[in-house]
Amino acid sequence: MTTYDIALIGFGGVNRTLAELIATRGEGLRSDLGFGLRVVAITDLRLGSLVQPEGIDLSMALNLGGSETFAVHGGSADTNNESVIHTCTADIICEATYTNPEDGEPAVSHVRWALESGKSVCTTNKGPVALRGAELTSLAEQNGVHFEFEGAVMSGTPVIRLAKKMFSGLKLNGFEGILNGTSNYVLGRMEAGLDYDAAIREAQELGYAEANPAADVEGYDVQLKVLILANELLDAGIELKDVKRQGISTVTPEDINKASRAGRRWKLVGSAQRNPDGTVTAGVTPVELPLDHGLAGVSGATNAVAFDTDLLGHVTVSGPGAGRVETAYALLSDIIAMHAAKTGAVAHV
Ligand code: HSE
Repeated sequence: MTTYDIALIGFGGVNRTLAELIATRGEGLRSDLGFGLRVVAITDLRLGSLVQPEGIDLSMALNLGGSETFAVHGGSADTNNESVIHTCTADIICEATYTNPEDGEPAVSHVRWALESGKSVCTTNKGPVALRGAELTSLAEQNGVHFEFEGAVMSGTPVIRLAKKMFSGLKLNGFEGILNGTSNYVLGRMEAGLDYDAAIREAQELGYAEANPAADVEGYDVQLKVLILANELLDAGIELKDVKRQGISTVTPEDINKASRAGRRWKLVGSAQRNPDGTVTAGVTPVELPLDHGLAGVSGATNAVAFDTDLLGHVTVSGPGAGRVETAYALLSDIIAMHAAKTGAVAHV
């Protein structure tokens, strides 16, 4: 049976959860999926790096205590990602470092180093996909490897691969969606009477919000996701500056109460639409929706995206848009898709 050797770049919540899944469910995955996974390298800003071609003891890695680094287990307290990515024996690099919305670094370099050295990449990081997606996809093709990124939008809820594979024969005219759980949660709590700051604090406590919630509530997170969906699914060929952005900080409790009395509800909507001349208009903006609108009932941290197609009308996908397990599953779904492409097996996504 095939075993894929993988390297985990970034050992925060998402890659740790992937390691936990491999450690606790490895045998089940092997019999369900027809392949095994072995972690041969881990790098992390805090923990340093460890490269072991014979396979890393995941229980050890997951239980490093206090200020311990991989140095005490034969690795290094330093992180030289370039060297590890180039020289390790991994078939697949799982990139789950933080999203940098400015230039996508260092994740863009991580992905580039991996693809150049003939390793496939799966990532949950929006930066490389939104800002360098076309270039990195082409680099993967040149090197005969895969670049998969389902988790960059709506975590493990299948959206990108589903639309690419299952909308064959349909014309996609555009989409609109709720693509940020934090802002959706905050708007819902404000409708229930909480003030803006208290609602954000709750979202942080529940683990939905980024450490700096401006990325969520000012629409930057949705801007990246809209850019990814527009370029990947509508072949829009647009850049970040082409996606107009407005967040929810301008929506006041009075606006929310007024909408509520009129049978309407505020939502932060990310959308893209193909124009008659073939160009694509994309943006993020708070919108007052009637309660019978398909997106009005999407509550809490749930995400949803409604695709506008020619033959089916609107097709809506709804599910979790964040979370450690949900995002780790996205990486697993990427690896399943790579295996399916290699063997002709049907991917369960
Ligand atoms: N902070 C994001 C959200 C999660 O609230 O949806 C990942 O993009």
